[in-house]
Amino acid sequence: MPKQYKNYVNGEWKLSDNEITIYAPADGEELGSVPAMSQEEVDAVYASSKAALPAWRALSYVERASYLHKVADILVRDAEKIGAVLSKEVAKGYKAAVSEVVRTADIVRFAAEEGVRMQGEVLEGGSFEAASKKKIAVVRREPVGLVLAISPFNYPVNLAASKIAPALIAGNVVAFKPPTQGSISGLLLAEVFVEAGLPAGVFNTITGRGSVIGDYIVEHEAVNFINFTGSTPVGERIGKMAGMRPIMLELGGKDSAIVLEDADLEKAAKDIVAGGLSYSGQRCTAVKRVLVVDSVADELVGLVKKNIEALSVGMPEEDADITPVIDDNSADYIEGLVKDAQEKGATEVTPFKRDGKLLTPTLFDNVTTDMRLAWEEPFGPVLPIIRVSSVEEAIEISNKSEYGLQASVFTNDFPLAFSIAEKLEVGTVHINNKTQRGTDNFPFLGAKKSGAGTQGVKYSIEAMTTVKSVVFDIK
Ligand code: NAP
Ligand code: G3H
Repeated sequence: MPKQYKNYVNGEWKLSDNEITIYAPADGEELGSVPAMSQEEVDAVYASSKAALPAWRALSYVERASYLHKVADILVRDAEKIGAVLSKEVAKGYKAAVSEVVRTADIVRFAAEEGVRMQGEVLEGGSFEAASKKKIAVVRREPVGLVLAISPFNYPVNLAASKIAPALIAGNVVAFKPPTQGSISGLLLAEVFVEAGLPAGVFNTITGRGSVIGDYIVEHEAVNFINFTGSTPVGERIGKMAGMRPIMLELGGKDSAIVLEDADLEKAAKDIVAGGLSYSGQRCTAVKRVLVVDSVADELVGLVKKNIEALSVGMPEEDADITPVIDDNSADYIEGLVKDAQEKGATEVTPFKRDGKLLTPTLFDNVTTDMRLAWEEPFGPVLPIIRVSSVEEAIEISNKSEYGLQASVFTNDFPLAFSIAEKLEVGTVHINNKTQRGTDNFPFLGAKKSGAGTQGVKYSIEAMTTVKSVVFDIK
């Protein structure tokens, strides 16, 4: 019989009156059920978080770090067990799912190590009026309090722990809401924190559909910081509800790969396909359009086609490169983008085929700016190529996007690459490589509708702490 998973609240595993059944997207297997928490139960979660805060923040960094090191050790030990469930629950290739868990352990460990190096600073007066010479400010960082961490389906474990670990090391308590499709994996992550022995209330979980309890958990006055990764519409809604409270939003993207005449086209094609189509394109940082100068477009299209044709299409447990997308709505949406491109005359280089949620990787050439594929995020295995006549046109089209997560520039002219990077309205530009988060100590952020705030272990710790300044006069 499929397992009834429970929430972890104030040191106990708890069921709710209502539950949500979770099925595998790839084959419909029933994987178990998770509680659909009520508002009263959410109140209890937050009350226990608040009660746990004083003792947790009073610990030293090294004491808090010791819990996180245990978490990292258990994640490594259980990577295959958690990865197997994760692979089924979000239809991610098994090896990629196990890698997600191992990468999570690395982030947790890095957060523990980064935390023990946290330092304040002392400032001297005297830079303004002469009398201020006597003033000294002792500047320290304090935890913000209760952090609500919300992760998306595509990295339900990794994009959870990348919020939770920096929050905890800084002395915050955490309430974690996993995505519904991904909540069993999220609760397996919770089991790891429990086994590591965190005191009751320091780490709690909340499950339930975002559309039902989302507003309640975000608006709740107990929450001091909302750390969210997911779609732009939900992120914008959270931003409005947050009011004066600080937030971190990592949202959608439409990352461009700009390919210039002198680029290593073999490498560019390989990176574009890996960047655009791994996990079936369901990554915020996926290459979501290619802007190539006319003179090398034919050659690049041929090479990209060759790389796409080498991809395997199948099931997560087979470790196929292309697996079913997360749900029927997503497959319908992607098909809508494909039909629009077909009707408006784009060249279908590798054909689109659909079998339920399983979509073949589809390459469109000669995509034009009147097509939805030039602007919208498919979050699926569809790659548009837009031919441009100049570098300036590539920059202009790239910057016209409402998103601003990342971009890639493929060229061997490094001064030119740097000057293009300066002009691109994105958080990160990769030169001669695919767009990607990380490494995980690097800053990760989105401009425009791709987000607010900066992730990356050190940056996340800074974001989820606040400065406290104590000022006094010396004689
Ligand atoms: P989503 O639908 O926005 O859901 C993200 C999370 O928010 C889930 O846990 C969801 O719970 C929850 N949620 C939904 N409505 C809510 C509400 N009103 N209040 C609070 N929480 C709510 O996104 P997704 O489909 O999981 O992920 C795909 C999107 O995320 C894409 O647009 C992608 O680009 C973006 N993404 C961005 C990054 C980045 O770092 N920039 C990383 C990964 C993904 P339920 O599952 O229960 O609805
Ligand atoms: O989906 C969004 C993730 O932040 C992307 O991470 O580039 O390591 O796959 P990734």
